[in-house]
Amino acid sequence: MRLLIIGTLNGHITEAARIAKAKGLSVSHVETIGPAISFLRQGGADVIFIDVTLDIWTFVKSIRDERINTPVIACGIGHETKLAVQAIRAGAQEYLPLPPDTDLIAAVLGSVSTNEAPLVYQDPVMAKVVKLAEQIASSDASVLITGESGTGKEVMAHFIHEKSKRSQSSFISVNCAAIPENLLESELFGHEKGAFTGALARRIGKFEEADGGTLLLDEITEMHPRLQAKLLRAIQEREIDRVGGTKPVRVNIRLLATSNRNMMQAVKEGTFREDLYFRLNVVAIEIPPLRERKNDLVILAKHFVKKYSEVNGLDSKELNQEACNKLLVQTWRGNVRELENVIHRAVLLCESNIIAGCDIHLPQFDVSADISPAHTQLSNPAVDKNVEGVGRTVAEVERDLIINTLTHCSGNRTHAATILGISIRTLRNKIRQYRDEGIKVPDGQLDQAS
Ligand SMILES: Nc1ncnc2c1ncn2[C@@H]1O[C@H](COP(=O)(O)OP(=O)(O)O)[C@@H](O)[C@H]1O
Ligand SMILES: [Mg+2]
Repeated sequence: MRLLIIGTLNGHITEAARIAKAKGLSVSHVETIGPAISFLRQGGADVIFIDVTLDIWTFVKSIRDERINTPVIACGIGHETKLAVQAIRAGAQEYLPLPPDTDLIAAVLGSVSTNEAPLVYQDPVMAKVVKLAEQIASSDASVLITGESGTGKEVMAHFIHEKSKRSQSSFISVNCAAIPENLLESELFGHEKGAFTGALARRIGKFEEADGGTLLLDEITEMHPRLQAKLLRAIQEREIDRVGGTKPVRVNIRLLATSNRNMMQAVKEGTFREDLYFRLNVVAIEIPPLRERKNDLVILAKHFVKKYSEVNGLDSKELNQEACNKLLVQTWRGNVRELENVIHRAVLLCESNIIAGCDIHLPQFDVSADISPAHTQLSNPAVDKNVEGVGRTVAEVERDLIINTLTHCSGNRTHAATILGISIRTLRNKIRQYRDEGIKVPDGQLDQAS
């Protein structure tokens, strides 16, 4: 992942850059907004840290007008609370207090990052899939990776890139579902100066950024039909047209795409072009849901325990047998992503070095198909606990849960949001609402502000 840092931040920048580099990011640095915008037009970054004292509003507005979609994180020294709130209002996604804290940087990067996780597996079912991926990795054929949400499609795409002849070149990923249509066109193909109001200069799109390397089109079924046509042309002709461009640009890329929908169904329904489907589907890799490869559960869980202990600067922890058993009987509708979240919470909540069954908080409504809902209601400890809540509104229970979790985390909002399974922004909004209602909320980094 590529990080662009804008500003000087009283020298804290060096330390933030060092931490980011240690996490495997490539870091670029400019001191002011002008050069930053030029840098981004050249196709430069996946995430931006900007000094909170700079004019964030103008910066965010300028890049969004130019349809540059890179997430912006404001950074300030310690409790520059007012500036932090202003930064968020000006369009920054998050506020990161400095001097930089390794955990927080990791959490913030985690919230915006594309996937560069290693592919962990053990189950023979998965081993077969990985073997196929290895066999086809070195060719330049397009690959369509399908599977339920959270099964590891992006991880697999990155794995294929790493095993390919292009591994030394860039791996660029675009989430087609997360970006509105008009932005996506610029994002993929770039644009020329004057192509639309706000197009103040030429911008290089992801196709050109990925030149010589691999381009992953994530959740491709969400792409608008008009762009599907443009994409098809790009694949067939091996050249692209920048928005507002007059002559095509040649590109040399290997294309990977993912979808969690049944593509044939989308073709039948007319939402996805059949010719594009056949172009992409030269090789098909289907990732089985986690429930069909139970032998991966414990090894993945251990991997996440290690990862989140390190990320949060905690001593190494072990899963005991009871905890493993609890994981093994779960259905995991949200697949590996859900397992990862459960383990992340367990690591944060567990107070000793042994993660026991009681540290594993399973999602309430994930039940095995063969257990009736009534039975689940009785047997699910998460539900049992909440019986005390009968007679109270959802809003009240939610408020208490949020405040108790914040108290548990000594006001650390990043940790609290992770445990609660909500975004930092949602948590921040809730806190603001409670404060407005005159409710006392435990102090954290931004506290006096809201
Ligand atoms: N085999 C795996 N080994 C390690 N981590 C994995 C594996 N599969 C998925 N993950 C993790 O689970 C999460 C979801 O994976 P992702 O590739 O984004 O899923 P999808 O794209 O299918 O929704 C990511 O955080 C990823 O790192
Ligand atoms: Mg995905």
